[in-house]
Amino acid sequence: MGMRIHPSLLSADFANFQRDIESIPSADGLHLDVMDYHFVPNLTFGLPVVEAIRKVTDHHIDMHLMIDDPDRWAPAYAEAGCESVTFHVEACKAPVRLARELRKLGARASMGLKPQTDIAPFEDILPELDMILLMTVEPGFGGQKFLDIMLPKVRRTRELVKKSGLDIWIQVDGGVSESTIDQCIEAGADTFVAGSAVFSADDPDGMIRTLRERAEE
Ligand code: DX5
Ligand code: ZN
Repeated sequence: MGMRIHPSLLSADFANFQRDIESIPSADGLHLDVMDYHFVPNLTFGLPVVEAIRKVTDHHIDMHLMIDDPDRWAPAYAEAGCESVTFHVEACKAPVRLARELRKLGARASMGLKPQTDIAPFEDILPELDMILLMTVEPGFGGQKFLDIMLPKVRRTRELVKKSGLDIWIQVDGGVSESTIDQCIEAGADTFVAGSAVFSADDPDGMIRTLRERAEE
């Protein structure tokens, strides 16, 4: 199984995105967190900043939209050339319609779930998805403690994906580090967001390789 490490630029230096992106050539994708002060109690950046980042990197761009009304705002990130767009199902009015629109625009369609949202009600719409993002902290901030009570949901999601026979990535986001990644792998995740673990390391690129080696062991 392919394992991917996606550093989150939420923990990068916001005045030096290009420099920090160039410092992590080993990344399998760049995880960009859009927050709007409504869906989560924090504000980051939006489309103009993402378009600027798109121009300076060829990395797979993994958008994580923690915003209200993704039905309205998410397609523009696919149009901007981002390879993957995650919308939160709690904020989405029509997940199937939005997923189809994202795919039509050439992006991978991904659905995000907050800690209290169960995966079971979405079993029937799995064929519309390329990735499921499972939050392993409450969304809104980097550097929070990993919620190990989310591991059973990671396991249930892996079982559903396996049963479906579909190639859907399972991403965990929040508190992933050297000390928590093993549990996530064991539970069935294959795509790992790491913000503070990567950017607070002395050698961010080395940390990505360390995490991936762990995942591929
Ligand atoms: C939090 C974001 C995460 C965040 C993770 O709501 O979705 O992507 O950057 O940060 P760490 O890895 O520090 O928990
Ligand atoms: Zn995120």
